[in-house]
Amino acid sequence: MAATAVNKLPDSAERGVVIPDNWPGYPLDLFTFPEHYSGDLDCVYIPHGVIMDRTERLARNIMDDLGDRDIVVLCVLKGGYQFCSDLVERIKVLSCNSSKSLLMRVDFIRLKSYLNDRSTQDLQIIGAESLSVLSGKNVLIVEAIVDTGKTMKTLLTHVRAFKPNMIRVAGLLVKRVPNSSGCLPDYVGFEIPNRFVVGYALDYNEYFRDLNHICVISESGKQKYKV
Ligand code: IMP
Repeated sequence: MAATAVNKLPDSAERGVVIPDNWPGYPLDLFTFPEHYSGDLDCVYIPHGVIMDRTERLARNIMDDLGDRDIVVLCVLKGGYQFCSDLVERIKVLSCNSSKSLLMRVDFIRLKSYLNDRSTQDLQIIGAESLSVLSGKNVLIVEAIVDTGKTMKTLLTHVRAFKPNMIRVAGLLVKRVPNSSGCLPDYVGFEIPNRFVVGYALDYNEYFRDLNHICVISESGKQKYKV
């Protein structure tokens, strides 16, 4: 079920690009990446160019659905900053080149629930006091990754308390996990297997945000940056 259960895209669009469980990724030596991460990655899982192409299409879907309204884009930090920035950029281009236009304001909220590659029970919301600006507005929450969906569910409860007019969620990645809360974004970039991924602003203990591709971290990478 989509987070807001109102989006009417067909099934394939709801799941996004589905990456199968047996997808091995691409060998690292076929791509460039920062030298300081050599030995810390297993493979390139989703190359940067593919992320950009998919984001362009998500921007078009959002524009088709929400065009000619005012929206507040709520970027979920830290992991969502790159996806949000690229998505907003694509929507801006579409706004200039089509008959529809979307007036966007951008706001930020910071959530933290992960230590190493494990979710903790303790979800911290930093900047929740600023959510009062969402009252009566059309809100597009932009999140990099939905794993169990617990974070998204908690955030939606907080946002709804401020009585926005409408809420939609765009998530770049959704993991196929057995313990999913069933809370899924309205706009999904990729559905991925249950593996810990880094890059494109997704981190492992704050490292790997400076990596363009989405990659699978290696065991030695996990050991190196463990806290
Ligand atoms: P959920 O509450 O289980 O859906 O977890 C969502 C949050 O966990 C995201 O906002 C990320 O901060 C973090 N997360 C989950 N999986 C990954 C991953 O594979 N790489 C990096 N961060 C992740």
